[in-house]
Amino acid sequence: MEMSDELLLAEKYDTPLYVTDAGKIRERYGKLKGAFDRIYYSCKANTNIAILKMLRKEGSFADAVSVGEVLACLRAGFPEDRIMFTGTGVRNDELAFLAEKGVMINIDSCSELERLCNLAKKPLSLSFRLNPGVGAGHSEKTITGNKNSKFGMEEEALKRAVNMAMQKGHEIKALHCHIGSGILSEEPFIRAAEILENTASSFKEQISFEFLDVGGGFGVPYKEDERELDIPSLANALCRIIKEPIAIEPGRYVVADSTVLLTRVNTIKSNGGRNFAQVDAGFNTLIRPAMYGSYHKVRLVGDSIGRRKKLYDIVGPLCESGDFLALDREMPELREGDLLAIENAGAYGYSMSSNYNSRPKAAEVMIEDGRDRLIRERESYEDLFSKEVL
Ligand code: LLP
Repeated sequence: MEMSDELLLAEKYDTPLYVTDAGKIRERYGKLKGAFDRIYYSCKANTNIAILKMLRKEGSFADAVSVGEVLACLRAGFPEDRIMFTGTGVRNDELAFLAEKGVMINIDSCSELERLCNLAKKPLSLSFRLNPGVGAGHSEKTITGNKNSKFGMEEEALKRAVNMAMQKGHEIKALHCHIGSGILSEEPFIRAAEILENTASSFKEQISFEFLDVGGGFGVPYKEDERELDIPSLANALCRIIKEPIAIEPGRYVVADSTVLLTRVNTIKSNGGRNFAQVDAGFNTLIRPAMYGSYHKVRLVGDSIGRRKKLYDIVGPLCESGDFLALDREMPELREGDLLAIENAGAYGYSMSSNYNSRPKAAEVMIEDGRDRLIRERESYEDLFSKEVL
């Protein structure tokens, strides 16, 4: 995208605005498609239905974690048998919905399976989530595979669950693990794959799994000095360990770098020697910096000629000191009215946004074949109050 386009888009659609480049998503998906047998796009990263539709057309399957996400995938045209549900702490009414729809259910606990078996009126298509005792991620908050996390089952519980499912005549399709999110080295994936394959082979007398699912978690570089994962090399390493076809569940890798968040500077001020550039996106719009201390590159859109460098805290309009997008960031001297692009905002950006401080959610635009189109309207103030009971 040209910078001039970003200025025009901000004029046309107002800010804060998420702008997604469809071509980038296709490119990232293509890299994975060439390397793995089956891809379940993990739609929690970005559930926009235009993006889901595009990935469905590319041949992707979908990983959903809630009834809402299953409904989004169905709206995007994914057939039920291309959706896998990986939930945790799932309610009975939710289980009944999933069983009725016939999506594959990735079992997280013996309790979940027992309740599901009692509810199901027809045979289920099942996967089983192993807790491999190996975790990794960009933040403590995104590590899921470690021993003491709430996710998955230890081998013994998993075996009980698989036996129960067999006795009840359900279809056992896959074994799964997901160790965490935002991982830039191969090593934890390899360790987890060895454990997953070991568990799978302990069933070899009873079951041949259609595929093993090694989860998502493939990181992307947010900082200049971070290196891309080498996908062909990782895929080769995993293929050497796992004998069955390999499925993955990437979210971030597919969508992160497709999207920028455009936000406008409305106030320049300083306090206690710090320079603040206040913009119209806060942690209601992009929570990753506030929640995980995540780094997102910030770029001044347009001309910076003649502007000397200065350090800024780039902060939002919310009434909390934790409301920042970037701290101590060197930028060309900023002025009120400047437009900033927050990069790598496609994963866990809009999907984690909120109405905090009674602020309507941002709009989303997609760029495809040189044309822009609105893929989600900006919320109105009316929308904010539409569910209030007066
Ligand atoms: N599969 C399962 C079971 C998951 O829990 C997740 C992510 C994924 C796949 C996709 O992971 P990915 O490929 O996107 O790393 N909000 C955090 C990330 C939380 C990830 C939660 N689970 C962030 O903004 O960094």
